[in-house]
Amino acid sequence: MHNPVGENPGSALAALRFYLDAGVDEAIDEMPLDRTTAPPPPPMTQRLQAVAAEPRAPAPGPARPAVAVGGDIALAEAERLARAAGDLDALKAAIAGFEGSGLKATASNIVFADGNPESRLMLVGEAPGREEDLKGLPFVGESGKLLDRMMAAIGRDRSSFYITNVLPWRPPGNRNPTQEEIALFLPFVRHHIALIRPKVLLLLGNISAKTLFDTTEGITRMRGKWREIAIADQVIPAMATYHPAFLLRQPGAKREAWRDLLSLEARLNELKI
Ligand code: URA
Repeated sequence: MHNPVGENPGSALAALRFYLDAGVDEAIDEMPLDRTTAPPPPPMTQRLQAVAAEPRAPAPGPARPAVAVGGDIALAEAERLARAAGDLDALKAAIAGFEGSGLKATASNIVFADGNPESRLMLVGEAPGREEDLKGLPFVGESGKLLDRMMAAIGRDRSSFYITNVLPWRPPGNRNPTQEEIALFLPFVRHHIALIRPKVLLLLGNISAKTLFDTTEGITRMRGKWREIAIADQVIPAMATYHPAFLLRQPGAKREAWRDLLSLEARLNELKI
């Protein structure tokens, strides 16, 4: 087969530049692979036969994302580490030490949480962006500033809510997290919620809502409606609203987001939070 890079260092460099221009900023896989112990791939004919013998893809399944082959071990490890964390510091250390996802290798800082852990209102976003990755804090970039203004409109600031994300590491180049990454970090975010014991949850955007409501429904249908999330021994009222990054792109949707905020405010008042 023709090798586009060839053996000439000049063309290898040109190919690398091309990849960079095309937005490729990492050369790693989603799952860590120990190449010193991994067996060599079987011959192509054997691989083709194996593929032909594979069962057909199942019909669209349950909402909770599945973790593929090698990920099963990582998922079991994530569940074990999360369960063992008795407080927030231990949970942060457990996430920082978790080697089951390649995201850690490309991020600069863990983004664990911000705000008041004593607050009974908890917000959950999607994943850190560039600013968050640099500062190690959630929602400190443009969408974070909008979120702070939105929350200020109902009289809240970071001393009166607690905030985290589904993912603690920035996906490279701000790409969307994969289903596998979401599934791997779900035990941690659920345990995070269990430790905080919020009385009300606000889920910011599609990924947070789909993940924590365990549904395939889209944010447009889900937003503004109160549901319940069962975590450990708690049943927590939760509402999804649009992600502030979406509102920056679609300011027309702020009307609906405002209605959601009023509903949140009413619920908080009702519960005297
Ligand atoms: N978007 C998120 O979902 N979380 C952040 O921390 C920043 C942007």
